[in-house]
Amino acid sequence: MEVLIRAERAEDLKAIATINEAAFGRVEEANLINQLRHSKAFIPELSLVAENHLEILGHILFTKIKIIDSLNHCHQSLALAPIAVATMHQNQGIGAALINEGLNRAREIGYLSVIVVGHETYYPRFGFTPASQWHITAPFDVPDEAFMAVELVENGLKHVSGMVVYAKEFEAV
Ligand SMILES: CC(C)(COP(=O)(O)OP(=O)(O)OC[C@H]1O[C@@H](n2cnc3c(N)ncnc32)[C@H](O)[C@@H]1OP(=O)(O)O)[C@@H](O)C(=O)NCCC(=O)NCCS
Repeated sequence: MEVLIRAERAEDLKAIATINEAAFGRVEEANLINQLRHSKAFIPELSLVAENHLEILGHILFTKIKIIDSLNHCHQSLALAPIAVATMHQNQGIGAALINEGLNRAREIGYLSVIVVGHETYYPRFGFTPASQWHITAPFDVPDEAFMAVELVENGLKHVSGMVVYAKEFEAV
């Protein structure tokens, strides 16, 4: 399906919440997005919607994270979370369009890498591989293959290792 990927606008917020609630079958992700919008981790250009004939069919959010290494050096990166597509429109390439456009926009504004917690059968097609490859760890228990990273530019994670620190709003989810 043809979709336009664009940054969210104030009038989209209700639809974004509705899609997330339906896709996840609970309110936590919709609430998380609303809280992150008011946090320092929020990047307005990286809260993207997929639109078709003026209808919002999907949403993706990238927020600022830090990766803190053993010497306490802090590396900037992004978390991809959450992503949701309207249940009636899943498996039509909308999620892929949101991820591809989101990664491109993140690269354009200067980010070097993205971290995701997700399905090991889905994210590798966008270049994600286990973050353990760079000795990047999660602040929670997660299977190695589900905690993934992608370099947005060549060697974007070359000198990066350590533990990911998410915006505190994620702790509630
Ligand atoms: C995951 C999600 C965003 C993918 O978006 P989408 O538009 O349906 O996906 P696409 O059309 O781009 O890709 C379809 C592929 O994703 C796979 N896929 C969809 N949901 C999946 C899931 N939960 N786990 C693993 N793979 C999944 C499909 O099997 C399909 O695989 P194929 O191409 O090998 O046949 C969407 O299904 C969704 O909103 N799911 C519910 C919320 C969710 O789980 N979000 C992600 C949390 S990590």
